[in-house]
Amino acid sequence: MQLHSKLILLEQPVKKNIVIFASGSGSNAQRLLEHFEHHPQIRVAALFSNNPKAYALKRAETYHVPALLFSRDEFYNSDKVLEQVKAFNPDLIVLAGFLWLVPLNLLQTFPDKIINIHPALLPKYGGKGMHGLHVHTAVVQSGDERSGITIHRVNEEYDKGEFILQEYCPVHPQDTPEELAARVLQLEHKHLPEVVEQLLLEKDKL
Ligand code: GRF
Repeated sequence: MQLHSKLILLEQPVKKNIVIFASGSGSNAQRLLEHFEHHPQIRVAALFSNNPKAYALKRAETYHVPALLFSRDEFYNSDKVLEQVKAFNPDLIVLAGFLWLVPLNLLQTFPDKIINIHPALLPKYGGKGMHGLHVHTAVVQSGDERSGITIHRVNEEYDKGEFILQEYCPVHPQDTPEELAARVLQLEHKHLPEVVEQLLLEKDKL
């Protein structure tokens, strides 16, 4: 009996772990939860949120993924969140609609392992306060003919880390910010799981 259970243990592949941070609806988190639900090499290990009302927490629970809530004080004035994240042994941390600046303790513990998705073509339309419809309103008002997404590494400044991928979509002259947001969100949903998978499985990407 003992031998039998040992053999079963040996057959279990060690999966790479994704930890997600999300502050809101979590539709990008949902795409990751779906995409990796039955993946042989990668799993979503946990979802962290700063917002008790974030629907992202419910989405994680639906997929039986641990959902953890934390306060501003715990995030910035203690190592509590760091220790909780470490317990999930993350290979990649994905900010999917996460609105707070990541503190140094996390950046230093996971250098180059934290990425963010931004709903515009950085370096334009980034920085503090540039999230959600604020971004798309600014793009529509600018008259730019295209927008898109930027997936980038995270450093100590908002939206300033090294780019990993940019993808484009048109901005139509009559677009409302909501219409543009929907077009950009489709791009996010398509590319985020692909990029995460590539980073985790292709050699030397992390
Ligand atoms: C997305 O547009 C993402 O790029 C940005 O915040 C939004 C989050 O949407 N960082 P959701 O919560 O994933 O639906």
